[in-house]
Amino acid sequence: MATGMLHLHSLLRWVILILLLISIFKAYTGWQQKRAFTAGDRKIWLFTLIFSHVNLLIGIYQLLLGNYGILKVDVPEGESVMSNKVLRFFWVEHPVFMIIAIVLITAGYKMSKKAVADELKFKRAFWLFFVALLAILVSIPWPFREVIGRPLFPGM
Ligand code: HEM
Repeated sequence: MATGMLHLHSLLRWVILILLLISIFKAYTGWQQKRAFTAGDRKIWLFTLIFSHVNLLIGIYQLLLGNYGILKVDVPEGESVMSNKVLRFFWVEHPVFMIIAIVLITAGYKMSKKAVADELKFKRAFWLFFVALLAILVSIPWPFREVIGRPLFPGM
């Protein structure tokens, strides 16, 4: 179960990144071209919201019961969470940055429902999604990251 959840959590990163890139592209071009906001724009933002929320739920499960689950792993003798690179990353840095990103994605999606001019909708959503993308990119355990690096695809 834990391995399946971890694989799903890892794979969903790609779905979220692709959807977020499309959302950013749509928000940017909509803003620059001053075009009307469409149901298609709303749909792609909604999918980005849904998949990021699904990964949030799986992330909370990992945080509690995964390989580094708070309920399963003890902090090694003589160390603290903040002095242990792996625990600091998976218990603090990764969840905090990802939650910030998901809050921004949620705010970006909510712009689709705001009664403001379409240009403003696109502009605000663009910045919210863009900062969310940066937060996700810096807090993914990419393979090149020392100690906390994880594979690009599950089981690699
Ligand atoms: C957009 C949101 C997120 C993305 C894209 C993401 C991505 C990832 C990736 C790529 C891994 C490495 C998986 C592997 O070892 O193959 C990982 C691990 C992990 N993530 Fe996330 N994550 C997200 C949100 C969260 C959140 C919100 C939490 C906690 C509340 C969380 C907790 C964890 C934990 C604890 C691990 C380590 C799991 C283990 O090795 O057992 N993640 N995440």
